[in-house]
Amino acid sequence: MELEEKLASRKARLAVIGLGYVGLPLSMEMAEAGFHVVGIDSDDRKIKEIAAKRSYIADVPTEILAKMVSEGRFEATVDPAVLATCDAISICVPTPLSKTKDPDVSYILDAVEKIERHLHPGQLIVLESTTYPGTTDELIREKLEAKGMRVGRDFFLAFSPERIDPGNKTHGTRNTPKVVGGITPRCTQLAVQLYSQFIDRVVPVSSARTAEMVKLLENTFRSVNIGLVNELAQMCDVLGVDAYEVIEAAATKPFGFLPFFPGPGLGGHCIPIDPHYLAWKMKAHDFTARFIGLAAEVNQEMPHLVVDKVSAGLNHHGKPIKGSRILALGVAYKKDVSDMRESPAIEVIDELRRRGGDVRYHDPYVPELVLNTGTLHGVPLTDEELAKADCVVVLTDHSCFDVAHVVRGSSLVVDTRNVTRGLDPKLRERVLKLGAPSPFEPGAVSAVRAH
Ligand SMILES: NC(=O)c1ccc[n+]([C@@H]2O[C@H](COP(=O)([O-])OP(=O)(O)OC[C@H]3O[C@@H](n4cnc5c(N)ncnc54)[C@H](O)[C@@H]3O)[C@@H](O)[C@H]2O)c1
Repeated sequence: MELEEKLASRKARLAVIGLGYVGLPLSMEMAEAGFHVVGIDSDDRKIKEIAAKRSYIADVPTEILAKMVSEGRFEATVDPAVLATCDAISICVPTPLSKTKDPDVSYILDAVEKIERHLHPGQLIVLESTTYPGTTDELIREKLEAKGMRVGRDFFLAFSPERIDPGNKTHGTRNTPKVVGGITPRCTQLAVQLYSQFIDRVVPVSSARTAEMVKLLENTFRSVNIGLVNELAQMCDVLGVDAYEVIEAAATKPFGFLPFFPGPGLGGHCIPIDPHYLAWKMKAHDFTARFIGLAAEVNQEMPHLVVDKVSAGLNHHGKPIKGSRILALGVAYKKDVSDMRESPAIEVIDELRRRGGDVRYHDPYVPELVLNTGTLHGVPLTDEELAKADCVVVLTDHSCFDVAHVVRGSSLVVDTRNVTRGLDPKLRERVLKLGAPSPFEPGAVSAVRAH
């Protein structure tokens, strides 16, 4: 049976390499659509969890995973030999940066090596990991063609960027449109055929390189706009204007404006990293990606601005950072998730500790916090913990936080997420907000001045 027919009848055997935040939800959509799916991951602990029918990704309910495993529609292994029996393979491995901020494509290369050993005619391979334009066409194609098979004729290759937003209750894998670009038109056609089986809308583009660039535009767009509002917050700090009020009012304009909000810095596996993949690629062409560089510069200043806010607040109470007890509220990189990757909380807490602060933290999603300055264990959010803190610094706006209770029980709160908006003005007198006028003497607390 031809691949196209196998995909349409859902008789094709699918494989997903890398079963993390991206790969596990994708596998579930494929399996729920009726495909037989094999997951491959080098992390044995994940394979054991799947065998025990337990989900380790918040967006994948354990009941669904257990159902798919019990019904024999999903299985997982560390052994890439199963690829020999698969018709289509999606690659969802990490693409981090090296210490020198260069792309680390070693996980992709390792996955491609596994595929190459089992590559057979008619197979479709789709890369989903975010990467620089040209990876699929230059790096992967060359490796897979090394033994004489030709792309578009013997096997098929495409790029389809993953857009999942962990924790998003409205948009998941199925109802987020999926962009697909193949190396040849036939590759695009087959990849569209694959994803159309379990994704509501598939958007073909003219090449894999275009699809790679689409993802980098999306994440650079976010990084640049966040950089813009973070600079706005710095300016508002100096001018004594509330940046959030400014943005909310601007967002009433029904056209030509899209609201982004300031915060303690960029976090997660995507926005702080992906634009550097593009900047790195452009460097080889003697092209400096100026917006990417500038946004990164502004965004990287934010954790220091937060530390300065804490310092200014303590100073108002006649206390130095050294020896003060500081409670960080929320450490995950964004609300309602446990993901700590690139979380700005790490930099904020490390710097406070380096300056002698006695920092504790509470985050219901993160029991243990590995910092550069040591490892901390979360503390329960008790009235005693709040009362004993010289300063509470809100770094993540988890929905479960009772902000009014926190502020009522604390002597000083630094709010980096605008969680204290709408509180009683009397309570807000003890809150120092990022990008907003100080409730203390006007002008007493000024921002880090970048320039
Ligand atoms: N997390 C997100 O929100 C998100 C959103 C869009 C795109 N992406 C992109 O998707 C890709 C995957 O991200 P993620 O968040 O799922 O990462 P992750 O770390 O959660 O999962 C990756 C998995 O791949 C496994 N792995 C690594 N190398 C392997 C190999 N050679 N063979 C088999 N398994 C291997 C790891 O053990 C891990 O379980 C990245 O390129 C990322 O930029 C992530």
